[in-house]
Amino acid sequence: MRVAMLTGGGDCPGLNAVMRAVARKGERGYGDELVGFQDGWKGVLEGRLVPLGVEQLRGTLPRGGTILGSSRTNPYKIDGGPEQVRTTLADHGIDALVAIGGEDTLGVAHRLAGEGVAVVGVPKTIDNDLSATELTFGFDTAVQICVDAIDRLHTTAESHDRVMVVEVMGRHAGHIAAWAGIAGGATITLIPEQPFDVEAVCEAIRHRHTEGKRLASIVVISEGATPKEGTMELASGALDAFGHVRLGGVGTRLAEQIEARTGYETRVTTLGHVQRGGTPTAFDRVLATRFGVAAIDAVHDGAWGTMVALQCGSVVQVPLADAVGELKLVDPELYGVAQVFFV
Ligand code: F6P
Repeated sequence: MRVAMLTGGGDCPGLNAVMRAVARKGERGYGDELVGFQDGWKGVLEGRLVPLGVEQLRGTLPRGGTILGSSRTNPYKIDGGPEQVRTTLADHGIDALVAIGGEDTLGVAHRLAGEGVAVVGVPKTIDNDLSATELTFGFDTAVQICVDAIDRLHTTAESHDRVMVVEVMGRHAGHIAAWAGIAGGATITLIPEQPFDVEAVCEAIRHRHTEGKRLASIVVISEGATPKEGTMELASGALDAFGHVRLGGVGTRLAEQIEARTGYETRVTTLGHVQRGGTPTAFDRVLATRFGVAAIDAVHDGAWGTMVALQCGSVVQVPLADAVGELKLVDPELYGVAQVFFV
């Protein structure tokens, strides 16, 4: 078969590891020819593809990002986009497409599969917010980066007896914040799933500071966390091609409020895209490799319209519809564990 791959949406560590595994089993196990579309769906619309076999992927297992490039292009927002996707696939003799992406990229794959395109999905995102899979690769790496940063912030915060607000990514799900908050020993962790009361946050910090000097407070806040109505103003960001608002900045607003209301010196660190960069953890390399092997197997099963997923420790095929229907949010039980440590 002639099998094409693409990587869409925000990059994350482990993308190259998936493609390397698809290529290895595809080429050596099934005798396939592997190619890749550059820059996600944009490259499909523009017919830009490159060879992507074992040779091209050699040495990429520890490399972050995606050697194919990525974009947030949505073919369904472009006149004649879906037809152009089908034309490109036919013109280049593509028998199957492996789409590696998050909610948006896989949402497009799901619609195309419904229109008869031979596509299978692989879930990726540092946000870990895709349903039907217990984990996405990239998440473990992002959490580890956050925890390393929080560990460092503890020592400088203690030295100056300061409050440190750490804003992490995750969009409208607080998985990164919840895990990083628990593993980093945060004083308070704020997630989108539970709107927060600024005054209650300040009260907790005041209380902690009465327990002793140099008990610096670390507040982890997810970029999508929202204040309870009327407690704090937030600016709204621009929208992308999938209608998502660009997040970022809530940490700065919260830090201003904490300093103004409590009088404690407060600093903010926005980890931003640092969380998406660099080499994948061993866990993410293994998960990505398992997903890649399962994806090329799904191609040879003719399992169009499915996504490979981690369920109860096993990699299985699930309908793409189950993955993109609704966001996977933080389990209240997990957030309850974080709350045990709030002052
Ligand atoms: O979905 C991954 C993610 O990193 C989100 O956590 C974040 O809100 C968004 O992408 C940032 O997107 P961009 O790279 O386009 O700024």
